[in-house]
Amino acid sequence: MLSSDPSPARQGTYDLVVQQLIPGYASLARLSVALLASSPLASQPESAVLVAGCGTGAELLEADAQRPDWQLTAIDPSAEMLAVARQRLQNRGRIDWHHATVEELGAESRFDGALSVLVLQSLPDDGTKLAFLSALARSLRPQGQLVLVDLMRPERSPLSSQVAEAWGCFQRASGVDGEAVDPTAQIQGFHPIGIARLTALVEAAGFSDPAPFFQALDFQGFLLQRRA
Ligand SMILES: C[S@@+](CC[C@H](N)C(=O)[O-])C[C@H]1O[C@@H](n2cnc3c(N)ncnc32)[C@H](O)[C@@H]1O
Repeated sequence: MLSSDPSPARQGTYDLVVQQLIPGYASLARLSVALLASSPLASQPESAVLVAGCGTGAELLEADAQRPDWQLTAIDPSAEMLAVARQRLQNRGRIDWHHATVEELGAESRFDGALSVLVLQSLPDDGTKLAFLSALARSLRPQGQLVLVDLMRPERSPLSSQVAEAWGCFQRASGVDGEAVDPTAQIQGFHPIGIARLTALVEAAGFSDPAPFFQALDFQGFLLQRRA
């Protein structure tokens, strides 16, 4: 259900499904915004902040609550997801909305910070992930920071099956009535990578090494800084 391009029928339930699937999702946007708000550039008043792959607006709502002074730009190629976000944020401050991919944005070194939550995982590692990360790096001012959260490729250990079983139990305890997502199976439409590959990609894109700040199962969060 955690799709990069959810069908209209799924969009109404996206926010519920994602909470049933990802332990800690409810506080993930809060933590991501708090982290960016403490960065050298985006801590300044009226900083320009990009929300890349804003989906139904979780990070935008949190950004608006914590930093109503931020000048927000929201971008997503899904018209349906954007429509939900716009509806949820209609009474909030001005937001610059873009129905496009980050790669199409063409914003050169304009943003003080950026958030990308659960987006990279859906892009194939055939140059597409690098193009996405490079576009994000280009969009940031030097030393601007990116908060990146994604599903990573699982590290296998002798206890992996127990962790997988616990994820199924978590989903059922959270109210999933159909079949739980099996983390040992390839999740359709997802292209998770390991930390070594992510480090190589972000380096090639123009970022510093990723600093981890969040992990729930294989969902991991990293803080990156555009090199000067
Ligand atoms: C799983 S949703 C995550 C939405 C939101 N960030 C959240 O955490 O709930 C992924 C979103 O990324 C968007 N997306 C996919 N490729 C993108 C790209 N190249 N640039 C910007 N957004 C993209 C999808 O349309 C979708 O709305």
